[in-house]
Amino acid sequence: MLRRTHDCGTLREGNLGETVVLAGWVDAFRSHGQGLVFVDLRDRAGVTQVVFDAEDATPELVEAGAKLRNEDVVAIKGAVRQRGKSNPKLPTGSIEVVVATLEVLAKTDNPPFIPGDADNLPAEETRLRYRYVDLRRPEMQRILRTRHRAARVARDYFDGEGFLEIETPILTRSTPEGARDYLVPSRVQPGAWYALPQSPQIFKQILMVAGCDKYMQICRCFRDEDPRADRQAEFTQIDCEMSFVDRDEVMGVMEGFVRTLWKEVLGVEVGPMDRVTYREALDRFGIDRPDRRFGLELVDISDLAAKTDFRVFTEALAKPSGVVKAIRVPGGADKLTRKKTDAYSEFVKDFGAGGVPVTKFTANGIETGIARFVEPIADELAERLGLSAGDTVLFAADTYRVATRALGELRLRVANDLDLIDESKWDFLWVYDFPMFEWIEESGRFHALHHPFTAPAESEAETLLGVDPTDIAAVEAIVSDGYDIVVNGSEIGGGSIRIHRPDMQRKVFELLGMNEREAKERFGFLLEALGCGAPPHGGIAFGLDRLVMHLCGTDNIRDVIAFPKTLNGADLMMQAPAGVSPEQLEELHIKSTWTGA
Ligand code: AMO
Repeated sequence: MLRRTHDCGTLREGNLGETVVLAGWVDAFRSHGQGLVFVDLRDRAGVTQVVFDAEDATPELVEAGAKLRNEDVVAIKGAVRQRGKSNPKLPTGSIEVVVATLEVLAKTDNPPFIPGDADNLPAEETRLRYRYVDLRRPEMQRILRTRHRAARVARDYFDGEGFLEIETPILTRSTPEGARDYLVPSRVQPGAWYALPQSPQIFKQILMVAGCDKYMQICRCFRDEDPRADRQAEFTQIDCEMSFVDRDEVMGVMEGFVRTLWKEVLGVEVGPMDRVTYREALDRFGIDRPDRRFGLELVDISDLAAKTDFRVFTEALAKPSGVVKAIRVPGGADKLTRKKTDAYSEFVKDFGAGGVPVTKFTANGIETGIARFVEPIADELAERLGLSAGDTVLFAADTYRVATRALGELRLRVANDLDLIDESKWDFLWVYDFPMFEWIEESGRFHALHHPFTAPAESEAETLLGVDPTDIAAVEAIVSDGYDIVVNGSEIGGGSIRIHRPDMQRKVFELLGMNEREAKERFGFLLEALGCGAPPHGGIAFGLDRLVMHLCGTDNIRDVIAFPKTLNGADLMMQAPAGVSPEQLEELHIKSTWTGA
C-alpha cells in the first residue's frame, strides 16, 4: 500500500512541485468532460482536491478516477500543483494534487448518506444507525477534538493543582444520586446484584479518609432515568474531591478550572463568577439555575395584589406561603398576541399553576386582560416593575413554590419566543445555600436536595444535630454547604462540603427516614470509615458532556457523545439493549417474566 506523506488538510503553496501520497475518503467527485476528473479527498484533517488529468495520466488511470464514488477509500500519489481557480473556503484551496498512481483501498456500495453534503443530512435516527459515517463529518470531528481537548485540559489543570487521578469500580453497590440504578446480576453469588455507579460519590469520600488528599477522575456514571436534551442515562463526569478544605477553597479551585477550560479551548477570558443564594435565584428567576443573559426578572407584588379584589390574587394570598409575582415584558403589547398569552396560560398548567393573568401598560394606563382589577394599583405596579408604555405584565398567583416555578419556566419560554437571549454572552454563576432537605408530600418523607452526604452549612451543624424530625418547617430551614455551578442557565457542575462526622451522618440518615438498622445495612461501611479518622472534605462533579455542549455550541447532548443513546435508551448502531440467550440467563439464575410487547 502507498504510504501517506501528508494528511488531507496540510498542503499549501509551499508544497508546490512536491510528490506526495494522500489517503482518505472520496468526499465529492466531478467529471469535467474529456479526460478531467476532480475528486475531493477527505480525512480527519481536511479536504484536498486531487485531479485525474489526461494530459498527465494514462486513459486507464483517468477512467479509474472517473469510477470513484462517494466514500470510496483511496490512496493517491502525485505532484502538488497550483489550482486553476483557488477555493478560499478550503485551507488547501490554492493547490491540487495531480494523480499519478491510484490505489482503491475499499469500495463503498451506496453509502446510507453523504457526510460531505451538510445541507442534506438525514434524520438523527439514520445518523445514529450509521454513526461511523456520521462521525466522518467535519462538524463531528470538530466536536470529538474539542471533547478530547477538554478532557486533556482537565487532566493537566488538576495535575497542576496536585490532584491524583484514581479509578473507582464500575461494578459496585448503589450510591443514591436520585435516579434508578442499573443492576448487574452476580453469577458467582446467586441472587446478589451489583449496581453501576450513579457517581463515584462514596468512593471519592473514602479516598479522602484513605489519605489521598486530592482526587480527580474522568468517569462514567449510569442513571436509569429518562434522557433529555442535556441528559443521558450513561454520561461522563469530571469528578473531584479535596481534603481539609472549606467551601470557598473548593469553589476557588473549580472556578480556576472552568476559566482555564474556556481560555484554552475557546480563547475566552472568564471573569470572577457571581455567587447567588438558592433563595435569591428562586426569588428573581424562579429556578435554581438562572440564565441572566436577559431580563424578565420575577418581582414580588403580593403586597400590592392584596389591595385588589381580584379573586385569583386574593385566593392565592390566602394559602400558606401564597404569593403574587409578576414579570414585565418590555414591548410585549405589540409582540405578545392574545393567542400567545393564551398559550402561556396553558403552558404554566404543566407546573401546577392555574393560568397567567395578563395586562398591558399603555400611554393611557393599564389596559386589557385583568386591567379592571389592577387599575387601583396601577401606579404602584408601574413603579415596582419599572413599566413603560407598550409593556405587558404577566402574573402568577399561587403558593411560593408553584408561582415561582411557573413564572420561572414562563420567563425562559418568553425569552425564547421573543428572541431576547444574547447568545454572545457567557453567564457563569455559583448557586449556594441550598436547603438540605425538601419535604415530599406524596411519600410523607424528606428527600436530600443534593445527596445524603452533603454537610450542613457550618453555622447550622448544631441545629441539624438537635432538630426534631417531625418539625417539617425547622428541617426544611436547614441550609446545606452545597453549591452548583451554572452557565447560561445550565447546571454544569454540583458539589458540596461533606459530612465527616459519623454522628452527623447518622442524623441525616434518620431525617431521611432510615432507621438505624437500614442505615447500617446500606451505609455501614461509610459510617465505619467515618469513624476511622475522616478529614473534613468536599468536592464537586462537572458534567463533561454538558461542558462540551457549551464549548461546541450545541444543545443536543447526543452530538457530543461518540456513541450516544436515543430518547428511549437505544444504541441504534449496536442495536442495544438486546435479548440474551436462555443459557446466559440460566447461568445468572435469572428467569425472565417478559412475554413481549
Ligand atoms: P450531580 O448529580 O449534581 O452530582 O452531577 C454532577 C453533574 O453531572 C452532570 N449530570 C449529567 N449530565 C448528563 N446526563 C445526566 N443524566 C447527568 N446527571 C448529572 C451535571 C451535574 O451538574 N456525586 C455528586 C457530585 C458531588 O457532590 O461532588 C453528583 O453526581 O452537569
